[in-house]
Amino acid sequence: MPQDKMEKPYLVTCTAPVNIAVIKYWGKRNEELILPINSSLSVTLHQDQLKTTTTVATSKSFHEDRLWLNGKEEDINHPRLQSCLREIRRLARKRHNDGDPDSSDSTGLSQKVRICSVNNFPTAAGLASSAAGYACLVYSLAQAFGVEGELSAIARQGSGSACRSIYGGFVQWIMGNKDDGKDSLAQQVEPETHWPELRIFVLVASAERKPIGSTSGMQTSVQTSRLLKHRAESVVPSRMVEMIEAVRRKDFPAFAELTMKDSNQFHATCLDTYPPIFYLNSVSQQVIHLVHRYNKYYGETRVAYSFDAGPNAVIFTLQEYASEFVRVVQHFFPSDTNGEGFIKGLPVKSATLSEELKQGIGLEPMPKGINYIISTKAGPGPRVVEDSSQHLLSSEGLPKKTV
Ligand code: DP6
Repeated sequence: MPQDKMEKPYLVTCTAPVNIAVIKYWGKRNEELILPINSSLSVTLHQDQLKTTTTVATSKSFHEDRLWLNGKEEDINHPRLQSCLREIRRLARKRHNDGDPDSSDSTGLSQKVRICSVNNFPTAAGLASSAAGYACLVYSLAQAFGVEGELSAIARQGSGSACRSIYGGFVQWIMGNKDDGKDSLAQQVEPETHWPELRIFVLVASAERKPIGSTSGMQTSVQTSRLLKHRAESVVPSRMVEMIEAVRRKDFPAFAELTMKDSNQFHATCLDTYPPIFYLNSVSQQVIHLVHRYNKYYGETRVAYSFDAGPNAVIFTLQEYASEFVRVVQHFFPSDTNGEGFIKGLPVKSATLSEELKQGIGLEPMPKGINYIISTKAGPGPRVVEDSSQHLLSSEGLPKKTV
């Protein structure tokens, strides 16, 4: 079709958050549908600091589906991406066939899509970009095709952890037990407004990419680790109940202890995998020691850590301890940029550290161990961006120059 006859595309832009699991998902019972061997629970991080933005365009003039990620055209035929697209189109068709007058017409359903997606944080920082990415993709496609209702089961088929990014606040992914996965869904436990005192810091330890991706890592763990089987069957079920209770009661010491124990057990199952998988490095170990010594100094649990499939620590603490603990991190990980730009995101008040505290912790400082800190808190789920100047695709359906 000549350019001048091109039908202007329908554009929709959405954003979606990253989440960090405090009860970890590790291991699938069905690879294709992405069904987990245990339930998990996460905190959705605030999109002011970490988010994916996705624009979806549909037009009669498009002849094929296309995809751009962080400025580069990628193959749209990725099986997981195709699962999400297929599911959204199936639901849109169902809605249309059920006679919903608001649903897109049949032409709309057959239209091809163009998808353009960017993260506001470096993918190489090893943060959970696939969770925000697939949650954003599914949410934006649902808007474009007029699909309403349960979206977490579709996001799950893109990346397991993505189902939890469909909601804000504190979110559980219930593993379910059906073979078709219809009951393997995310559910909000409490909204982001529930625990305003909770503060979160991402300590970016290294910009290297993770050595083994979660997908293949957990496959090997399921095949070889008896500890993982024990964890899924005998540890996680009661931990989920305790964690939900701790969140509901805003019981920080209980929340913190469960969070650290669960992170540690996840990394223990990695070591129990054969051949073993290592995600923690010497910086991660130093952070673990630092947190335990800090808590011990005060004789109570004021800070917790959690690590995913990479060396970056995610720190949870309460507002009243936040500024002092950040200064402790700066002291034990001195860096060239310790002043300007070391702390990104929500402001952190200044604090002075007593000699007694420094000596009480008693660790040898590790220069340049941490590149920077992202200061954030719990945040809301995916959103539609109303301002049309924010679309990542032009009215011709191509990425704008700035993407
Ligand atoms: C360690 O969701 O990335 O972050 O389902 O294969 O895409 P796939 O894996 P992914 O695994 C995340 C693992 C984790 C723990 C968690 O987020 O629960």
